[in-house]
Amino acid sequence: MKIAVPKERRPYERRVAITPDMVKKYRALGYEVGVEAGAGSEASYPDEQYAAAGASIVPDTAVLLRDADLVLKVQRPMSEGEGRNELGLIRQGAVLIGMLNPYGAKADLESYARNHITAMSMELVPRITRAQAMDVLSSQSNLAGYKAVLDAAEQFGRAFPMMMTAAGTVPPARVLVMGAGVAGLQAIATARRLGAIVSATDVRPVAREQVQSLGATFVMVENEETKAAETAGGYAKEMSEDYKRQQAALIAETIKKQDIVICTALIPGRAAPKLVTEEMLRTMKPGSVVVDLAVEQGGNCALSEAGKVVDAHGVKIVGHRNVPSRIAVDASALYARNLMNFVTLLTPKGEGRLIADWKDEIVRGVTLTHDGAIVHPQFAQPKSPS
Ligand code: NAI
Repeated sequence: MKIAVPKERRPYERRVAITPDMVKKYRALGYEVGVEAGAGSEASYPDEQYAAAGASIVPDTAVLLRDADLVLKVQRPMSEGEGRNELGLIRQGAVLIGMLNPYGAKADLESYARNHITAMSMELVPRITRAQAMDVLSSQSNLAGYKAVLDAAEQFGRAFPMMMTAAGTVPPARVLVMGAGVAGLQAIATARRLGAIVSATDVRPVAREQVQSLGATFVMVENEETKAAETAGGYAKEMSEDYKRQQAALIAETIKKQDIVICTALIPGRAAPKLVTEEMLRTMKPGSVVVDLAVEQGGNCALSEAGKVVDAHGVKIVGHRNVPSRIAVDASALYARNLMNFVTLLTPKGEGRLIADWKDEIVRGVTLTHDGAIVHPQFAQPKSPS
């Protein structure tokens, strides 16, 4: 069977779904691999390295895709109306694996089903131990958390560590991390490594120990409601209005002592919780920085704007899009390995043939469409009673 990896063409996307090392792994699994010319160039993986690893380099997307059995993508293919119909180039019966953004792009699911494409969305990998090596949200969020702190440092006109010099003492930066999930924990670790004094908040009480083990202070409104704030999948729930009021009071009190705020709070399938209000920004010191990693889900900060660095009340609010792509070499390497681990699960006999076990909880968890229908329980339309 043939694997095809097209070049990503969405704006702000520099990653690629395969690295030269992974070409070798797929070949060892028995697959032929085709990579579009230039697919890895923005992530510093040149065509020659793919060719040396045994991939064929195909200059034309249509030629690459027309006989591909398995299409590996970072983001969902562009469709008609987006300027380039990549989706229309994928042949019927092919399997498409990528971060397909099923909550944000529900209409695409109809297209996959109509075109008889088996679409598998890696954001939906269940958070179970066996699937950790396939967990793209973790691998990408981890790097985003790291990069967010460096982006903050770039905008910050001061130093992170305390420095005692003959010319005087530079005080350490104070960093508050909102949301202590994968990105937040990495942000804490990175800010600590740079020498900052770090605190963090979350709605899941289990985060306390993780935050403290990284040497940061945990601040949180803890009450009856937070005992049930975590879903079975480990995610946060939307909190009540009463909780939000109490949390806002705590954040308002904490934020005015901070130099840098890193926002990472998300609720899957919903708009990001608004945690930093304009009033709070007014209380921060001039020159402070807010980095809003949640900006593309609506933002944790009231004034953040996707793709911009906004200056408001003397505070710089950083809203870069697609932060994992800003560290494209490592983000691609980890993502490509996540995909390879998943394809290995789909290739139990290692003969270059996909044999999906539809009873497997990971396979079931990620499959959006199959055999011309939307099959994922979260997205399938309930059948009307006949
Ligand atoms: P996420 O990206 O959905 O959310 C980020 C963080 O924001 C979470 O910690 C969440 O609790 C927090 N948050 C949401 N609403 C908030 C609010 N109103 N105020 C403050 N914080 C808020 O979550 P992520 O990072 O993808 O993972 C969450 C948890 O899932 C992890 O901490 C971990 O416990 C678990 N996990 C399990 C894995 C496994 O078992 N394989 C792999 C990765 C994560």
